[in-house]
Amino acid sequence: MAQSEIGLIGLGTMGAMLSLNIAENGFPISVFNRTTARTTEFKANAGDLADRITACETLEELVASIKSPRAIILMVPAGEIVDAQIAALRPFLDDDDMIIDAGNANFRDTQRRAADADKAGVPFLGIGVSGGEEGARFGPSIMGGGPKEAWDHVAHILTAISAKYEGTPCATWMGEGGAGHFVKAVHNGIEYADMQMIAETYGIMRDGQGMTAQQCAAVFDAWNDGVLQSYLVEISGKVSAATDDSGAPMLDIIMDKAGQKGTGRWTVIEAQHLGAPVPVIEAAVAARNLSALKSQREQGEAAYGAAPVALADGALTDDDLEQALIVGKIMCYAQGFALLNAASAEFGWDLPMPEIARVWREGCIIRSSMLNDMASALTEAPDGNLLFAPYFSDLIRRNEPSLRKTVTTALAHGLQVPALSAGLAYFDAMRTGRSTANMIQAQRDFFGAHGFERTDKDGKGFHGPWGGQL
Ligand code: 6PG
Repeated sequence: MAQSEIGLIGLGTMGAMLSLNIAENGFPISVFNRTTARTTEFKANAGDLADRITACETLEELVASIKSPRAIILMVPAGEIVDAQIAALRPFLDDDDMIIDAGNANFRDTQRRAADADKAGVPFLGIGVSGGEEGARFGPSIMGGGPKEAWDHVAHILTAISAKYEGTPCATWMGEGGAGHFVKAVHNGIEYADMQMIAETYGIMRDGQGMTAQQCAAVFDAWNDGVLQSYLVEISGKVSAATDDSGAPMLDIIMDKAGQKGTGRWTVIEAQHLGAPVPVIEAAVAARNLSALKSQREQGEAAYGAAPVALADGALTDDDLEQALIVGKIMCYAQGFALLNAASAEFGWDLPMPEIARVWREGCIIRSSMLNDMASALTEAPDGNLLFAPYFSDLIRRNEPSLRKTVTTALAHGLQVPALSAGLAYFDAMRTGRSTANMIQAQRDFFGAHGFERTDKDGKGFHGPWGGQL
């Protein structure tokens, strides 16, 4: 059998789907899994694609079966397993053979692995892959990071297997080192926030307006025909409409405890390191953490009574909620792109902002029609805050009153809208020329002589007249 174009280690769901995608696009691939039975089973179930798949039982066999210079994708769980796999594989490789970590790695691990590879003079790529199982099989969004020449060596395969937006591949090189995994982490932070804000509108419909899951489904379906058209709104309609064998709405029998693998949390941690505000994403991560405290929440409800949630008829319309979600979403993306800008400057990446919006238009979990408009806005002003892009400022002006009405009405009735509230608070902060931080500065100077700037004089390090008053 002729040698393969590429190799892949780790035939879990994502690895298996990605391998089939690669094979289907005409690239012979060699695969290896820790348990040989899985490798054998994978090839046996590959149907017509089996001809293009070489199932390997050992790493030596895998390496020998791939064309030189080799490229081998790791699709193993993030963390120490990646390091262990690299350590096991490297001795069999030549210096120009490349390892590609396509898992959901913490970008700091990727930075470290990239630096190690650089020192050893061997190519290493860290690529973010989004789109879940279906994306991996039929076209994910791919965010590449590492040496550009290494990316160029495999770009023809990665662009071929990626999702396409009107024919344009959703796969791009983002920058050196951990740039690809950083962009993927921000994607996931936005994913958390998008999901949370949708869940908040669902909560208003369910608890505030007494709507059934089926009725919610109809609202989400309608929104998916408008500005909010997106994969997450679409699947929210589908999950709301789904019933189990007994006819019970699935949503009504799913436990209200959200899981998480941690990538949304990484976004928030990195945003804090960079001093880049992402309050909508922070609220979404906190909401997942709160959701996990099920028994304490039940204890709280028993102690204090449930929040008074019923809304008067017509207090909030479907249009109010839709418009609130539009503005909340813009705030969330504005924060996400501002975080990417901050990281780009800090790590010297020169991240391609419009390209990021472009590769998110198809294949990934946050794909939506709004991303096309974001790509246009970021082409005009790559470093600008989306809040100031004409298309989005127009949308904000028209829809912000509904976000305010939704948030204030929800809060007055004890309905939870932490992410939408955070979006509104961000908007208000961003349009307040004179904040209250003068009070913070005065307090800091009072207790720690930290100094402040004045509005009436140039210079820094002024102090107040409070010396000796402690
Ligand atoms: C994607 C997703 C995916 C992520 C899951 C689960 O882009 O395909 O972001 O990579 O792992 O959505 O994430 P949580 O378990 O953190 O919710």
